[in-house]
Amino acid sequence: MSEHLTIVNHPLVQHKLTLMRKKDTSTAVFRQLLREISQLLAYEITHDLALTMTTVETPLMEMEAPVLAGKKLALVSILRAGNGLLDGVLELIPSARVGFVGLYRDEATLQPVKYYFKVPTELADRRVIVVDPMLATGNSSAAAVSMLKEAGARDIRFLCLLAAPEGVARMAEAHPDVPIVTAALDERLNDKGYILPGLGDAGDRMFGTK
Ligand code: URA
Repeated sequence: MSEHLTIVNHPLVQHKLTLMRKKDTSTAVFRQLLREISQLLAYEITHDLALTMTTVETPLMEMEAPVLAGKKLALVSILRAGNGLLDGVLELIPSARVGFVGLYRDEATLQPVKYYFKVPTELADRRVIVVDPMLATGNSSAAAVSMLKEAGARDIRFLCLLAAPEGVARMAEAHPDVPIVTAALDERLNDKGYILPGLGDAGDRMFGTK
């Protein structure tokens, strides 16, 4: 495993992921598990946030205690499945600023095309965490990260639930400076771009669409 990729092997993460993979897991349970797992993944991806000291008064005495330094984080969800990860991460980091990137695939060129882009101001001064549950081909993730860099972002992390080797390679090639945190690295993509063994279409499973 390269430094570019961190797999969170914590037993709670692995247990919840297994339940999410099961085809009979209901939409409601899938969504709840995603919320729980996203918080555990967020814990890992934020482990190196900078701290600064501040003075507080406990009921007993004054002390110097650590608080997060710098500007509020920016969480950027790649629509629509990213929103399932976003909710849980936001619960853990409620003051984060939030952006959205919407992309669709042009069937002629097969390239991702932007249909929505709204991100927090002063991206250059924020840790940016991009969330998308499935890192499959990596094309939309790489495109979204390029757009964020064009908007000024410099300190970017990518948070996903499942990654395919193809997507990790694509991101490593396009954005070697963007570390990826995931719960598992699966085997490969099928010919439709789905992750195997995977968990199916994450958007459909979390929103109950088909
Ligand atoms: N997107 C999904 O929702 N599932 C996959 O397996 C790949 C991409």
